[in-house]
Amino acid sequence: MRAGRDDIGAVAGDGAGSMRIAMIGTGYVGLVSGACIADFGHTVTCVDKDSIKISALNKGEIPIYEPGLAEIVQSNVRQGRLTFTTELSETLGEADAVFIAVGTPSRRGDGHADLSYVYAATREIALALKRFTVVITKSTVPVGTGDEIERIIRELRRDIDVAVVSNPEFLREGAAIHDFKHPDRIVVGTHDERAKAVLAEIYRPLYLNRAPIMYTGRRTAELIKYAANAFLATKITFINEVADLCEKVGADVQEVARGIGLDNRIGPKFLHAGPGFGGSCFPKDVRAVIKTAQDHNVPMRILEAVETVNDTRKRAMARKVSSAFAGVLRGKTVAILGLTFKPNTDDVREAPSLALITALQDMGAQVRAYDPVGMDSAKQVLTEVTYCRDPYDCVEEADAVVIVTEWEQFRALDLERVRDLMACPVMVDLRNVYSPEDMKKYGFAYTSVGRLPTQQPINLVDAPISIRARV
Ligand SMILES: NC(=O)c1ccc[n+]([C@@H]2O[C@H](COP(=O)([O-])OP(=O)(O)OC[C@H]3O[C@@H](n4cnc5c(N)ncnc54)[C@H](O)[C@@H]3O)[C@@H](O)[C@H]2O)c1
Repeated sequence: MRAGRDDIGAVAGDGAGSMRIAMIGTGYVGLVSGACIADFGHTVTCVDKDSIKISALNKGEIPIYEPGLAEIVQSNVRQGRLTFTTELSETLGEADAVFIAVGTPSRRGDGHADLSYVYAATREIALALKRFTVVITKSTVPVGTGDEIERIIRELRRDIDVAVVSNPEFLREGAAIHDFKHPDRIVVGTHDERAKAVLAEIYRPLYLNRAPIMYTGRRTAELIKYAANAFLATKITFINEVADLCEKVGADVQEVARGIGLDNRIGPKFLHAGPGFGGSCFPKDVRAVIKTAQDHNVPMRILEAVETVNDTRKRAMARKVSSAFAGVLRGKTVAILGLTFKPNTDDVREAPSLALITALQDMGAQVRAYDPVGMDSAKQVLTEVTYCRDPYDCVEEADAVVIVTEWEQFRALDLERVRDLMACPVMVDLRNVYSPEDMKKYGFAYTSVGRLPTQQPINLVDAPISIRARV
């Protein structure tokens, strides 16, 4: 297997079942899904309103950072199975199925999922339809959205039959190709037999690879996606609160997580304590499911707590930094390592780094930052940050360094060099990348999450030289 490529390739194209697919929305989900479905052997046209994105793709440039994506896009473009356009109407006439993969961000003001992009795409689909087509919602949408999509299409096009299906996507940014090609399950929400046959054909290579296809009602499929993300967000928030308790009672959250994770009923994943969950999905999906539940008079108290605890937590991480300076950060320089919400993506949407950096700036700190791929995205949302060439440039003369995203390169820092470059050897490790014992050996005042600091918080305001002397 070549790096970045996958073993599941063009099966559909080898047989009679090759489909013509339109993918509306060429973002993190649409581009990955479109490229992988083309790689299965189907013919895919990715459509996006963003003409800059489409012209970049047509020049062979990949607008997002996702390991392995460039190779799979380029190979399918070369083989004539993958094309990009801004014009939906040209594409749809020939398509057997059209996916909706546009964004569903939080609506400003009330936290409901903003479905305006989904419904705009729906109207465009309706107007472009030429024959029976399966319309598949891959965007994460609240329960009942499929009903509304169907209503809109039927209202605009009484002459054409459609089947509207919910097919939520579970891929993770940073491992998107692997996740798309090796899903734990494929959820297909429809009772329409024609649609089931089309979906089965699209995903045939995965089915051959034994990924279970689960057919459900459409509303059930829509809720499966939200319930999955809400549950994972709850698991993260749970261990984060356990981490806070560990710090108070002198326990180690890593060991607690392992101790409970070895229990098969609990499982080890999503039990990594940290600065709170971020990203383009969990925060908005938790908010949206709370709103849906409120609309149906079914308050979801657990998720309401998850949302509040997580929101507060990101900003509260700044206190871990300030406590090393007796609560006074004014005039201090803080080096931030990692801006993206997780490694292997350039996505900074709702990343913990954003709230943390703003909190540090509010406390009067100067912020320097480095991220392997996320700095361009961060520049669009953060101000007054000095962006650096590499981790060592970032920590130079800094009073504290904070590891916010666990990029591989931050796991193997030359710690002596880091220590010697800094004005004060203070490290706040929000991902528990290093061990407190090692950090003590290197002479850092080291704070992590859910583990005791290597030394009691000390006031370094007036004593940086003496601290360095101790090192
Ligand atoms: N990002 C993830 O990891 C992930 C994982 C699973 C599910 N999802 C869900 O998938 C959906 C898409 O997420 P994303 O991260 O790919 O979003 P994104 O913002 O990266 O991409 C959405 C794209 O849709 C385009 N678009 C909007 N309206 C359009 C229209 N009418 N016609 C053509 N293009 C249009 C935008 O220009 C944009 O390029 C969301 O509902 C999200 O919740 C995301």
